[in-house]
Amino acid sequence: MKMNNIYLDHAASTPIRPEVAEVMMKVMTEQYGNASSVHSFGRAAKRLISSARDQVSSVIGCRPDELIFTGGGTESDNLALFGIAAARAERGKHIITTMIEHHAVLHTCQKLEKDGYEVTYLPVDRYGRIHPEQVAEAIRPDTILVSVIYANNEVGTIQPIAEIGRLPQSVASLFMSMLFRR
Ligand SMILES: Cc1ncc(COP(=O)(O)O)c(C=O)c1O
Repeated sequence: MKMNNIYLDHAASTPIRPEVAEVMMKVMTEQYGNASSVHSFGRAAKRLISSARDQVSSVIGCRPDELIFTGGGTESDNLALFGIAAARAERGKHIITTMIEHHAVLHTCQKLEKDGYEVTYLPVDRYGRIHPEQVAEAIRPDTILVSVIYANNEVGTIQPIAEIGRLPQSVASLFMSMLFRR
């Protein structure tokens, strides 16, 4: 890449930090065991995953066993939306999301609509932001999930996820699409 080019698309993809690339290179070339294998290579890989789980959970403030590692963003969105929709179908079939989600969420919602779920798509203001009151107004007794993109993949707008999560009516699970780029 020529040095006089300025890259302004870091919300879509961004270079990996050198220290992360260094660790990944070491793992992929030297510690490549399958973490499910019982031999020493496998056990070493399992220890590495366990330590990564501890580090990530302390950064985002969850329990280590609440983390699920996936192959990428689309897989994560699918797992969360289809998974919660199926697990809570008995409780209700209403989902709240926004008009500015990544297609991996929007297409999943469209498929859920075909399967009998009802989806409310919240509009954003002129700055591309959702307001927690909009979510509060949209929540119904049969709402099972609120899915809001944390940092928009096109323009990088940060949504007030913490406030939305604190809504007293927030009986639903809050799924933030937050992407840790590879
Ligand atoms: C919320 C969200 N989901 C999915 C994707 C696509 O990710 P992937 O290419 O890893 O499937 C992106 C990419 O920016 C994203 O922001």
